[in-house]
Amino acid sequence: LDNGLAMTPTMGWLHWERFLCNTDCENDPNNCIREELYMQMADVMVKEGWLEAGYEYVCIDDCWPHHQRDAQGRLQADPKRFPSGIKKLADYIHSKGLKFGIYADVGSMTCAGYPGSLGFYEQDAKTFAEWGVDLLKFDGCYMKDWTMLEAGYKNMSRALNQTGRSILYSCEWPLYEWQYRQPNYTEIRKTCNHWRNYADVYDSWSSIQSIVDWTASHQKLLVPVAGPGGWNDPDMLVIGNFGLSHDQQQSQMALWAIMAAPLLMSNDLRDICPKSKALLQNRRIIAISQDPLGRQGCQIGKVNSFDVWERPLAKGGLALAIVNRQELGGPRGFPLVLGTLPSWQVCDPKCNVTQILPTYQELGVHSVNSTLLFKINPSGTALVTLTYIKEF
Ligand code: DGJ
Repeated sequence: LDNGLAMTPTMGWLHWERFLCNTDCENDPNNCIREELYMQMADVMVKEGWLEAGYEYVCIDDCWPHHQRDAQGRLQADPKRFPSGIKKLADYIHSKGLKFGIYADVGSMTCAGYPGSLGFYEQDAKTFAEWGVDLLKFDGCYMKDWTMLEAGYKNMSRALNQTGRSILYSCEWPLYEWQYRQPNYTEIRKTCNHWRNYADVYDSWSSIQSIVDWTASHQKLLVPVAGPGGWNDPDMLVIGNFGLSHDQQQSQMALWAIMAAPLLMSNDLRDICPKSKALLQNRRIIAISQDPLGRQGCQIGKVNSFDVWERPLAKGGLALAIVNRQELGGPRGFPLVLGTLPSWQVCDPKCNVTQILPTYQELGVHSVNSTLLFKINPSGTALVTLTYIKEF
């Protein structure tokens, strides 16, 4: 969407995967969906280097509203869980130098059964603008007929634009349309800043694998439409939770950077292990994600239960991710023959090789005749960048 936003993939935090629709603030005050959760996350994001690393959006997902609209038909927050109201919460988040995201649904109800925006697009867009919303995640549940998805997502896009406030627009249009036909990605790119294509992420390696494999098998369709202003969204980062080993967390981080995916963490930043934190804040991986060329990477091969991915970077650079997909045995070596890469030109005549994962290491100057050996743990990833050297 050509609204000047999301020139690189969005970075921030979104509550859904970790906190779901927990509304039981009496028994679980620390983890329920209420204003304190976002205020605490915002505090930590500023204090613990998240904002400095690039994570700037604090986003609410489903289950924030009251079950009824107000007398004027406006959406309103649940008064028990958001006693200060959304505008105050947005002000608080802005006062920390962060941006504020909210959630609504194109249909008659949200997936969790709260009021949907169908019939209220303009009014809801105005309400969000008045509250100071910077990002809208627009879900696709409860649309009477799938053929209405296109008009619904486009009308909300127009309504947001007409508010005059810059609001990043995160869609789930293709995810809901895939059940019926192949979506028109040219239209989607014109309408949204990013769009979910595939199933919700879970806190498990099998979930990460299925998202990554689906993306690889549809890359001919997906990769060309991604670029500054519009991105494919493979869903949240679940790093720092319970389901992924550290190698698997490294794989998610590396692949989300290669796929030019929004980096929206869903975890508890108030309580996260130092290794996960360092991985999420790794400035070399973030630089790949946020590379100004803005091209999504693709899978270039599968050899010996290794998946090889590449993403072209600005100034003729290249990022490579090699994933060890064999969940059996120990670390295995992968010999990378630079001359056999589809983008071997980056190393002609010479390139500088930097290994970022599993650990940072400068590997020096190489040419197309070089073979580099990477040792990769089961379900782990080696992430490297190759930078072109002009004169040698
Ligand atoms: C479905 C979406 O795909 C999820 O990301 C989340 O927003 C839930 N709905 C909320 O109900």
